[in-house]
Amino acid sequence: MTSFQSGQGISEFLLPKQTPVRETLEGWEDWRRKRKSFTPAPRLDLAAWRALSPRQRTLHDLHRTSTHSNLPLLQTPMTKAVTKLVHGRIMGNALKHKPTTRAGVMVTGGGYQGKTETVCEIIATFEDTWLELHRQLNPDAVPGSRDLHAPVAYVQTPVTAKPKSTCKAILNFYGAPIHARMDLPDLVRQVAVSLQENGTKVLVLDDITRLRMHRVDDQDTLDLIRAFMSMHVTLILIGVDIPRSGLLQEGRRDPSNGQYVLPPSQHAKVHGLEPTQTQRRFDLVELDHFRYDTPQQIAAWVDHLAGIQANLRLLKAPADVLTGGHMPEYLFERTNGVVGALERLIEDGCTEAMETKEESLTVDVLDHIDIILEDDAGRDPDAGEIPAIPPRRSQVERKRPHNSVFDDRGPAEETG
Ligand SMILES: Nc1ncnc2c1ncn2[C@@H]1O[C@H](COP(=O)(O)OP(=O)(O)OP(=O)(O)O)[C@@H](O)[C@H]1O
Ligand SMILES: [Mg+2]
Repeated sequence: MTSFQSGQGISEFLLPKQTPVRETLEGWEDWRRKRKSFTPAPRLDLAAWRALSPRQRTLHDLHRTSTHSNLPLLQTPMTKAVTKLVHGRIMGNALKHKPTTRAGVMVTGGGYQGKTETVCEIIATFEDTWLELHRQLNPDAVPGSRDLHAPVAYVQTPVTAKPKSTCKAILNFYGAPIHARMDLPDLVRQVAVSLQENGTKVLVLDDITRLRMHRVDDQDTLDLIRAFMSMHVTLILIGVDIPRSGLLQEGRRDPSNGQYVLPPSQHAKVHGLEPTQTQRRFDLVELDHFRYDTPQQIAAWVDHLAGIQANLRLLKAPADVLTGGHMPEYLFERTNGVVGALERLIEDGCTEAMETKEESLTVDVLDHIDIILEDDAGRDPDAGEIPAIPPRRSQVERKRPHNSVFDDRGPAEETG
């Protein structure tokens, strides 16, 4: 008996879950522990669905909708490359005993290309591994003790970041006390204490390209952020098109290893975090979007679509609903190979397909859907966090001759 038949476990997928607030330690831990626990709706064909009672159908439909809005994060050739570098850097740094400053990583890419989700998954996996390692090496160690409390800290750069507001954003992650009277030296000291007391090995600052390097305040903030590297954490900075943002303007590329070398942090000196002035080193890694030029690139895109279609629960959709015919090419045209735009199109398409009882994704269904990314809270359009997505086909003049296969609704129609 499935969960919707017995009524068991319904709350898990029906009750509106709070959006995970990963910017606090509690929210982060909650997300990390539950991130793989979603159970997709059982797969039913039209006949099996029709055999359900009206109440069971309603519940099953809700579970299907929930499944379409909780599509899993898929490994892609691009996420693989980023994971290899970032995970390797974090692990290497965490196991380092020497008090030297750890090299950081900058993760760059266009908006909606999965930077945040990919990095969160990498650091959550690191934390899982780190905690497991501690349990094996020292079975008496309990969560909550130093070195185990918050191995990673995830912080979003404030939209108008100043040194003080950046410190406060970090302290907010830990829920550390912030008093109105605290000046910058107090805040920096408190950040150092929090990182150390919680055994933090990785500090992520997301949306770092909100800093505008022509502003003195923002340059000062970047200098302060570099100071955190003397606190023996691996600093990960995530941003849209970092090379063009000016963040590296003071840096130079070391041809021997490709790392960017930035000047020592003045804040580290002023706040006594570091006795000697050390340059800051960063690997720069790009999370690219899919491309559609070579056979390998096309195969990778089709693979990704196959991973998504395995999670769709439309009653009349053929097994190759996204990978068959011209669908891969059509979906690429619509999304430019941007995973976030694809996810939005598929999710909205599934809603439309269920509402209209079409119960399959066809070019016709998808052509009615606009990919709207602008209204997504928490993104800063001025920082390039919203990618340019091509208009839908019906809005542009058709570039190629009419292709009947494109408009074929496939076997979906016959099954109905
Ligand atoms: N590898 C993936 N597989 C499937 N879906 C993905 C993948 N990566 C990201 N997504 C989806 O794409 C959407 C955008 O991802 P994310 O927020 O990580 O992008 P971003 O690059 O951080 O964007 P921004 O620059 O606006 O912050 C998310 O809803 C996420 O679930
Ligand atoms: Mg992001």
